[in-house]
Amino acid sequence: MEIKKVCVLGGSGFVGRHVVSRLHERGYSVLVPYRNYDRAKLLSVMPSVSLVPADIHDPEALKRMFQGMDAVINLVGILHERRRGDFQRVHVELPRKVVAACRAAGVKRLLHMSAIGVSPDGLSRYQRSKGEGEAIALAAHGERLAVTAFRPSVIFGPEDSFLNLFASLLHWTPVFPLGSPNARMQPVYVGDVAQAFAASLNNPATFGQRYELCGPKVYTLQQLVEFVAAVKGLKRRIIPLSDDMSSLQASLLGLLPVKMLTHDNYLTLKTDAVCNCPFPELFGIQPAALEAEAPQYLTPIAPPRFKRFIDETRH
Ligand SMILES: NC(=O)c1ccc[n+]([C@@H]2O[C@H](COP(=O)([O-])OP(=O)(O)OC[C@H]3O[C@@H](n4cnc5c(N)ncnc54)[C@H](OP(=O)(O)O)[C@@H]3O)[C@@H](O)[C@H]2O)c1
Repeated sequence: MEIKKVCVLGGSGFVGRHVVSRLHERGYSVLVPYRNYDRAKLLSVMPSVSLVPADIHDPEALKRMFQGMDAVINLVGILHERRRGDFQRVHVELPRKVVAACRAAGVKRLLHMSAIGVSPDGLSRYQRSKGEGEAIALAAHGERLAVTAFRPSVIFGPEDSFLNLFASLLHWTPVFPLGSPNARMQPVYVGDVAQAFAASLNNPATFGQRYELCGPKVYTLQQLVEFVAAVKGLKRRIIPLSDDMSSLQASLLGLLPVKMLTHDNYLTLKTDAVCNCPFPELFGIQPAALEAEAPQYLTPIAPPRFKRFIDETRH
């Protein structure tokens, strides 16, 4: 199977922009459906990338879009529901429609974005719905459709909504009450995730497989927030909340019209987002360290405080 044309669902998102750009560099012709042109328009500077307005939840529109494609990459995902049922629609029903449309259009290759720790029996609705979607995608693997799924831990990189969110919150608050401070995660660099997707497209060794993608080191959430404060040169009092207070904080924040954190996110954080194995060797990279990449986009750097943080957390 030689893959040349790839349709990327969710190509306008944070991870999507990196995946699309990596595919462009490798000479693939890429089709990106979008619902909001402003979010996608940056991609149009790449000559081999075509943007098309589409309702990807419409099975017929999906089928038409997939005609002539060699591969489909599904990166669509959400952390919060706007309307009840969004997790089911986006994480479960969409993968089912994607598989059906791949079959109908004769697409031979499907890469599916899952997440570490998800499972149909997960604690949160996010985990359960992502777990179901992953199972649907992998169950479709067979002779006519080669499927690979990826399970990254939290992903960091320029324009991430994780470290950058903490950076802006820390900027405005001298005292920072932090929920779920002991949640454990192993952040992975967005460029490494994009590399794994691009490298697996044409590699038969990855067909039917599921890969966990993590960076080199495990952190608690509190360590990560302290890291961001140190990089930004902000002296902040971070107050770790108890489990009960974390649950209450998440419930209250979940009532705000703009969602930063919900009770479902609090439940997700109860599961370690860490890998049980090193970064898969067949993708040919050493995963980038947070300490090397994040200071480049979380400016300004305050060297003495930042250096002290690195020294203290080195071991
Ligand atoms: N970021 C992380 O730390 C992380 C960690 C593990 C797994 N993941 C998974 O990686 C994938 C990409 O995440 P991301 O951080 O790049 O998220 P993102 O920036 O929010 O991008 C999500 C993409 O999905 C599209 N999308 C979301 N809801 C949609 C809907 N209802 N209908 C149509 N399109 C929809 C968005 O379109 P618009 O541009 O129009 O909004 C965007 O293209 C997701 O599946 C996520 O679960 C992310």
